[in-house]
Amino acid sequence: MAAAAAGRPVRVLFVCLGNICRSPTAEGVMRSLIAREGMEAEIQLDSAGTGSWHVGSAPDPRAASAARGRGVALSGIARQARAEDFEAFDLIVAMDRSNQRDLLELAPDAEAREKVRLLREFDLSSGELSELDVPDPYYGGGEHFEEVLEIVAAGCEGLLEEIRAGRLP
Ligand code: 4NP
Repeated sequence: MAAAAAGRPVRVLFVCLGNICRSPTAEGVMRSLIAREGMEAEIQLDSAGTGSWHVGSAPDPRAASAARGRGVALSGIARQARAEDFEAFDLIVAMDRSNQRDLLELAPDAEAREKVRLLREFDLSSGELSELDVPDPYYGGGEHFEEVLEIVAAGCEGLLEEIRAGRLP
């Protein structure tokens, strides 16, 4: 049953490749938006990576520094996404289409596959966007992390709006 109809929090999992840059950024930004709106009881968050290279690591210091510049704290220890996540979460939000493909392969059934979305689909200006991937900043410089933060913030604002309106999931 949909979370809102069942009177329980909506559970959202953000997923990127390493779970050290983009998905912890999305989790931190979303957490701060939820706090701003006083919706802590209505939404639960976590993040994960499709890959295992960085399991056990804290968020990348460059991502943490960019987020801190906007008053957002990143937290959590990297973990790999698993099939059980499709049971535990209502919505699985991929940062790019490669993550999305990997998640669709991991999903155990059709119902699970329906939970997989791209973050930028929620961006209120997504109709005008030609690119729906959150770019991977790992091999880039500080400006890439700033760009990720902008893109992620726009996606999270739209996602929060969808949840608040009861349209999701
Ligand atoms: P993320 O960034 O997927 O946003 O956490 C990356 C982190 C690590 C690697 C690639 C992307 N890596 O190749 O190790």
